[in-house]
Amino acid sequence: MQERHVTMEARNLTIDFAKKKSSLFGPKEYLRALNGVDFKMYNNHCLAVVGESGCGKSTTARAITKINNVSDGEILYRGRNISEIKAGDELTKYRNDVQMVFQDPFGSLNPLHTIRYHLTRPLKIYYGLSGGELEDKLEQLLLQVGLNPPKEVLKKFPHQLSGGQRQRVFLAKTLAIGADVILADEPTSMLDVSIRIGVLNLMNQMKHEMNKSFMYITHDIATARYFAEETMVLYCGHMVEWGDTEAITQNPQHPYTKLLLAAVPDPSRSIHEKLPTHRSMETPMWSPQMKGCPYAARCPHAKPSCTEYLPEVKEIAPNHYTRCHLFN
Ligand SMILES: Nc1ncnc2c1ncn2[C@@H]1O[C@H](COP(=O)(O)OP(=O)(O)O)[C@@H](O)[C@H]1O
Ligand SMILES: [Mg+2]
Repeated sequence: MQERHVTMEARNLTIDFAKKKSSLFGPKEYLRALNGVDFKMYNNHCLAVVGESGCGKSTTARAITKINNVSDGEILYRGRNISEIKAGDELTKYRNDVQMVFQDPFGSLNPLHTIRYHLTRPLKIYYGLSGGELEDKLEQLLLQVGLNPPKEVLKKFPHQLSGGQRQRVFLAKTLAIGADVILADEPTSMLDVSIRIGVLNLMNQMKHEMNKSFMYITHDIATARYFAEETMVLYCGHMVEWGDTEAITQNPQHPYTKLLLAAVPDPSRSIHEKLPTHRSMETPMWSPQMKGCPYAARCPHAKPSCTEYLPEVKEIAPNHYTRCHLFN
């Protein structure tokens, strides 16, 4: 077992996006997509980022890949502040070290090129492989991601593979590039249910056997249990509950985490049982001027203090935290 160390760390990560102005002379308004987010990622570990659409999951990953600018706070990769990585070899290396896996594997592979082309390019460019060495590495990569027989798979075009197979090719590509941190943004949500678990198992294997760090972005808190040691539940760009996945899914404390877990389909539930209801289906948009708990408008336990100030962080148990006025 490799020694555990921090790969990626966010401190007070805050991201604002300028809104379209309603009038030419009015003040500039901002949407706060992330508000004071802190997390650590480790080698050999996965951090699940969970929450419904619009809560800031993809913004988190895009900030790590330097697509989104950070408004406040910082992101450190192996101790280096990524805002200082500006150009040249260091930026190229960072872009190779930190790879994103997207929801739609078809969109991330060029339909005009074979699988051989997709995997050969990084091996040639970054590792200078050719001839027999290249062939051995291609075969090894495809076997590592469970694509068999490699010689047949290499000849195929993306459209000749299933969604799950394409996602495996893309994961092989991250391995070919030599990724250290993999940010998987809803990587299984476009796959058939029966295929999903295989892709999650493969990522689990990459995490453990190849010592990778994963961020697993999902709206499905149930799958976080299969794959992530740590979980961070986001609501409206705020961390509402975070820490050990087992504790969060087995002993949720924040009303929003409880709602997410209650909404997970349970095959043993009868059709006569009442499903949990939301007070409001819309996730509110947060802005820098807003105060209080972002969940207050929707929370069945809301009290006046909830709309007045953000709850303090409460440690429920070692490596299990929440921000909720029920505990303040
Ligand atoms: N480039 C952008 N410009 C303006 N607003 C954005 C941009 N990217 C994301 N947002 C907004 O930030 C919020 C969080 O988005 P996102 O991180 O994509 O959510 P999620 O991935 O959790 O569904 C949403 O309200 C979204 O509309
Ligand atoms: Mg998203």
